Amino acid sequence: MIKEEINIKPNKTNSVPLQGLGVSGPIGIFDSGYGGLTILEEIRKQLPEYDYIYLGDNARTPYGTRSFDVVYKYTLECVTKLFEMGCHLVILACNTASAKALRSIQQNDLPLHHPDRRVLGVIRPTVEVVDSVSKSKHIGLLATLGTVQSNSYPLEVLKLYNDITITSEACPMWVPLIENNEYNSAGADYFIKKNLDNLLKSDSEIDTVVLGCTHYPLLLDKIKQFLPIGIKVVTQGEFVAKSLADYLHRHPEMDSKCTKKSSMRYLTTESVEKFSVSASIFLNEDIQAEHIDI
Ligand code: DGL
Repeated sequence: MIKEEINIKPNKTNSVPLQGLGVSGPIGIFDSGYGGLTILEEIRKQLPEYDYIYLGDNARTPYGTRSFDVVYKYTLECVTKLFEMGCHLVILACNTASAKALRSIQQNDLPLHHPDRRVLGVIRPTVEVVDSVSKSKHIGLLATLGTVQSNSYPLEVLKLYNDITITSEACPMWVPLIENNEYNSAGADYFIKKNLDNLLKSDSEIDTVVLGCTHYPLLLDKIKQFLPIGIKVVTQGEFVAKSLADYLHRHPEMDSKCTKKSSMRYLTTESVEKFSVSASIFLNEDIQAEHIDI
């Protein structure tokens, strides 16, 4: 998938202490911006005893319109930073990164540089549940351009089922609307309705719509408002959290490397003030973020 070796920039000095040599550490949760908070929220509900570090690469969001090589480079830089901070397990709480970078990181970078660390994504746990939700077996996928172009969802669906038709609609405006706090505007309504209409026009038998971008649950009320009654909407947080709980149960050697003091840190590559305000609204709790240079 990746044609050439990409050099990772050396660490810049930053305000966050590194502690990567420890034998155990927090679980890292990574997203291009705020979207991964929708996954983090569910993970913390189901696994409250663990320590977590959330890293939002807000300075370089959105990832959804970027090339494979760039998404891979940015994702690997952020994962490496989380490893340096002591994380042994990192969740890519981002479909675009899961679609465009996960496989290369798992197959090339981890065996070579970090054989004892693990990186997991969000696409497989989502695909594992769609079959039980849909009756018509016609599923609509809403995702970033990058996730749609990667074909990751249809390919993953094919590995598990032979009776599911998946139709995708790229929604390139949705992440910028959320990142810029414009998701309650009339402009947002226009784009949400337009993309949903396109999707349903492409396949009138769709009875289940998967939100294949971790930002999209922030638009859930509007999506439900514009969808015909009877169409179910699948968000990923609950299933990713269940899958992580199951993974930790099946891998006690990794579970023992994840510290459990219920602590939480939020890192952003952009403005601490902006992240703290937006994340506090999204999560409905007071958040003090820290800046990190990648
Ligand atoms: N939350 C990311 C995802 O799930 C958004 C990607 C982006 O930055 O465009 O795909």
